[in-house]
Amino acid sequence: MARKSFKAGALTAPLPPVMVTVGDMESSNIITIGWTGILSTIPPRTYISVRPERHSYKMLKAKGEFVINLTTASQARIVDYAGIYTGAKVDKFKECGLTKIESKEVSAPTIAECPFALECRVVEVIPMGTHDVFIADIVSVSADESIIDEAGKIRFDKAGLMAYAHGEYFALGEKLGSFGFSTKKSAPKKPAPKKNTAENKPKTAPMSSKTDTEEDKKRPFYLDAPRGKGTKHGGKGKKR
Ligand SMILES: Cc1cc2nc3c(=O)[nH]c(=O)nc-3n(C[C@H](O)[C@H](O)[C@H](O)COP(=O)(O)O)c2cc1C
Repeated sequence: MARKSFKAGALTAPLPPVMVTVGDMESSNIITIGWTGILSTIPPRTYISVRPERHSYKMLKAKGEFVINLTTASQARIVDYAGIYTGAKVDKFKECGLTKIESKEVSAPTIAECPFALECRVVEVIPMGTHDVFIADIVSVSADESIIDEAGKIRFDKAGLMAYAHGEYFALGEKLGSFGFSTKKSAPKKPAPKKNTAENKPKTAPMSSKTDTEEDKKRPFYLDAPRGKGTKHGGKGKKR
């Protein structure tokens, strides 16, 4: 199949268009950020890339804390607004009709209307070119009760999250599977259970394996996933 090359550019998709809150309960601001992601599972570490000319940049530097608020498709208009207007001139909480609530561990407020929030404390700021990268520890997470099911699991499939792709906003589509589902045998093809003899070892490990390290055991519940031997993740299942 033919392919066309383009000039090098900062293009990957989809990204989460998040609303980052900075400051404190008295003086706060919201900035829409697309350049964000996860850097490490243990310690849980994230980043946001922010241009120094942003109003939020000074507040970020001053406090060293921020909250990443995940956004929903129904919030597309306000996410865009918070990424166009500057907090130097408008109160984005007021203009967007958003409610600030106290975060658990950081001074920056959480946006009550967002389904999921990561509270972050900056550990390093690295100039990267147009943007400075704020690397931060995730010190607490919170989720709206409406997306937590009876088993205590966060149901991202119910959250209606939004995606951003090269200047355009999208609603997430249908759920396709869960982590590790490709390693599971489909029900009709599953052979009858055989005896667990030396020649016939089980092909999958239990959810919690004896080989878990202390660090593995400290993993937050929302990162739990089935672990199967023989996966590309070193035979112990998911290591994100
Ligand atoms: C979808 C979207 C993604 C954005 N991503 C970033 C980003 O990653 N980094 C950044 O510095 N600005 C980003 N911006 C631009 C800022 O959100 C925008 O300049 C905002 O008005 C700055 O607000 P402030 O001056 O109140 O800090 C983005 C804007 C939009 C709409």
